[in-house]
Amino acid sequence: MRTTYLRRFWERLLVHVRIMRPDDANIAGNVHGGTILKMIEEAGAIISTRHCNSQTGEKCVAALARVERTDFLSPMCIGEVGHVSAEITYTSKHSVEVQVNVMAENILTSAKRLTNRATLWYVPLSLTNVDKVTEVPPIEYERKELEEEGRKRYENQKLERFETKQRNGDVILPVIDPDRQTKEQYTVGYSQSSLIHLVGPSDCTLHGYVHGGVTMKLMDEVAGIVAVRHCKTNVVTASVDAINFHRKIQKGCIITISGRMTFTSNKSMEIEVFVDADCLVGDIQEKYRAVSAFFTYVSLSKEGKPLPVPQLLIENEEEKKRFEEGKGRYLQTKTKRQIQTQCLTQQ
Ligand code: COA
Repeated sequence: MRTTYLRRFWERLLVHVRIMRPDDANIAGNVHGGTILKMIEEAGAIISTRHCNSQTGEKCVAALARVERTDFLSPMCIGEVGHVSAEITYTSKHSVEVQVNVMAENILTSAKRLTNRATLWYVPLSLTNVDKVTEVPPIEYERKELEEEGRKRYENQKLERFETKQRNGDVILPVIDPDRQTKEQYTVGYSQSSLIHLVGPSDCTLHGYVHGGVTMKLMDEVAGIVAVRHCKTNVVTASVDAINFHRKIQKGCIITISGRMTFTSNKSMEIEVFVDADCLVGDIQEKYRAVSAFFTYVSLSKEGKPLPVPQLLIENEEEKKRFEEGKGRYLQTKTKRQIQTQCLTQQ
């Protein structure tokens, strides 16, 4: 019984190891937040696709549906070895929860530290019909409580994504790259930025739709540009709020990834990023908002210490509203972090 459980457990676990190279670096010299998100998503996609095809039946590919809020706990350096381990922790009828841990190893000293911990949800889509969601084989749980806890996480995310789906219904025009000469420094318009990308085969899954990791990497890149334009210093990704991937993006689409600053605290900035798809090739030509998310960035000194951030200059009621909403999110996560730290120190 125990041997069978262990065999099943190992089938649910994936470890991927790779050395971090100079082309993985951001301008601060550490590994780009987007590169880490892409590695996390690749591990999640492999393990969930493998699991969903573990029984005979229709073949499928797991598509990223959601990433829970992710904190970047410690920087990973070039030359270090990144260990990405992924484990399936819950399955519903049509979705798979994957927990991913990223560790950085200094191979000269063998010292390892945790850099990221992420939770992702995947949904299997039939290989022959991308619009058909297939059933997920259930996993066995070591203890009944683990299944119960997983069910609670599943119910919570379902509720949360229902609320954001309602919010995403608002049509927001993509942010057009501003003419910075005419804008005052530290305003939203001064730093807002966009990047246009033609979705090619190397960005796509076996289905011909964009990998979630590719999208997150581009989103992080745009958020980084906004942050650098605002502070003119080295910057790093501190966290990404929960992201829902409501719509697929097909090969051949043109995507516009736009970012704008919404809020600044003393030492952090919140940047809202949108991905808008424009499908010009194919039977159905349409434009739609594919994804949106909030990234938090921190400005760093040459010594790598967090610096005070220039305060955002608010110019109109819309920006004021977004600033207040950003402040609310900032205060909420700050309180949660404080509670978690208190719990850890009491243990
Ligand atoms: N997060 C987590 N799970 C999700 C989800 C989300 N954002 N959206 C749907 N699901 C789960 C549902 O809970 C359901 O599982 P359950 O029956 O066990 O509860 C399962 O997906 C199917 O839900 P359903 O309502 O039938 O499907 P849908 O029409 O909402 O489609 C996707 C779900 C994920 C297939 C669809 O939203 C999609 O194609 N998204 C884009 C995926 C993608 O391309 N990812 C990479 C983006 S760059």
